[in-house]
Amino acid sequence: MSDTKESPTSVPRRSVSEDESIPQAQPERDDEQTEANHSAIVASHYNKIEDRGLQVRKKSNIYFMRNFNNWIKSVVIEEYTSLIKGRIPLGSPFRVMDMCCGKGGDLNKWSNANVTHLICTDIALISLEQCEKRFDTMYQRDRDSLRRPKVEFFAADATLQQLRTKFRDPSLKLHLVSCQFAFHYSFESFKQADCMMKNAAECLEEGFYFIGTIPDANEIMKRQRMAMSDTFGNDIYRIQFFCDTDNPPLFGAKYNFQLDEVVNCPEFLVHFPTLEKLALKHGLRLVEKKRFEELFDVHLSRKQGLLEKMQALETYPPPFGRHNNDSNQGKGPEQYRHAEEFGRQMSSQHQFRVGTLSQQEWEASSLYLFFAFQKMKTSYDANGRPVYS
Ligand SMILES: C[S@@+](CC[C@H](N)C(=O)[O-])C[C@H]1O[C@@H](n2cnc3c(N)ncnc32)[C@H](O)[C@@H]1O
Repeated sequence: MSDTKESPTSVPRRSVSEDESIPQAQPERDDEQTEANHSAIVASHYNKIEDRGLQVRKKSNIYFMRNFNNWIKSVVIEEYTSLIKGRIPLGSPFRVMDMCCGKGGDLNKWSNANVTHLICTDIALISLEQCEKRFDTMYQRDRDSLRRPKVEFFAADATLQQLRTKFRDPSLKLHLVSCQFAFHYSFESFKQADCMMKNAAECLEEGFYFIGTIPDANEIMKRQRMAMSDTFGNDIYRIQFFCDTDNPPLFGAKYNFQLDEVVNCPEFLVHFPTLEKLALKHGLRLVEKKRFEELFDVHLSRKQGLLEKMQALETYPPPFGRHNNDSNQGKGPEQYRHAEEFGRQMSSQHQFRVGTLSQQEWEASSLYLFFAFQKMKTSYDANGRPVYS
């Protein structure tokens, strides 16, 4: 089946009611063995993903979607790193933790932001080693080595271990914690989500930020209801639920997520109001929450050059009748109806050309949202408990 979502060429607007499909509170599970098993499955899954070269990636069915998601990350990371740099004295340290950094897909972004101290951590040791190699390659040349930030790499389960204790200096204060496409793994249980949130919050300097991207649980539940099935998706992504979808628990609302040949592992719904409450508990207040489609609208005009540079949209129709990449032989014209329609509205007489994603890629990308939390001022009450303001 295919979901009915519009692609970024058109102007899809609708408001999502926050309470639409909010999972109800249910007793939290306390099954440490299962938690450890899921973490091991996730780590082993990501460890096995090969770092394929550009030529192979270009052949992928989700080449443009991955570039689009990467564009979204670039835009939000640039927004928050600029905000931070505007607030710290010129020439003073700029410290970032990339929590669940994977193979280092964001290293360039940290380099562009002139981060001076970078902490990279992930549960998947092989991914982390690839991240470290990538970092070394980036700063190999002499002229680049001058800009080389201080860096720390360590493997840890951010849902079970206190990351701060693994820093070279556990008293270090950070300006930014970034957790891209990963916080949802912690929603297996309250204990894990609480631990990961504590890891994100406890080293942040007051007034600074925790940013991340996660699947939007409301959107997922909406699609599940439209499909009237616990398994739904399209040719490139598939979700299969393993929990009561009529009454999903706040934690442990498990589904399997499959994305082309890249991802195939268990994930958990993130009930956003619960995420917000958990953040508040650790002194973080929500300052921004936007779905990817909103971010696209907000940043398109200012960041169109970057969008083109990153090949985040494919040109439709392809120039000179060629395929844009080696993959889209499989993508039939029905994948570009939105682009045809958009083109008809734009120019009735001339041949049009637009940047777009295939319908199926857009359906997958528009599953996600971005959040930003800010660390509040912390004081302590007479009992030594933190009070945030
Ligand atoms: C989709 S990848 C995203 C990688 C990277 N943040 C990016 O945007 O390219 C998710 C990452 O989260 C990591 N991860 C999942 N569960 C984790 C946990 N409990 N602790 C630390 N890392 C975890 C995985 O190993 C994987 O590298």
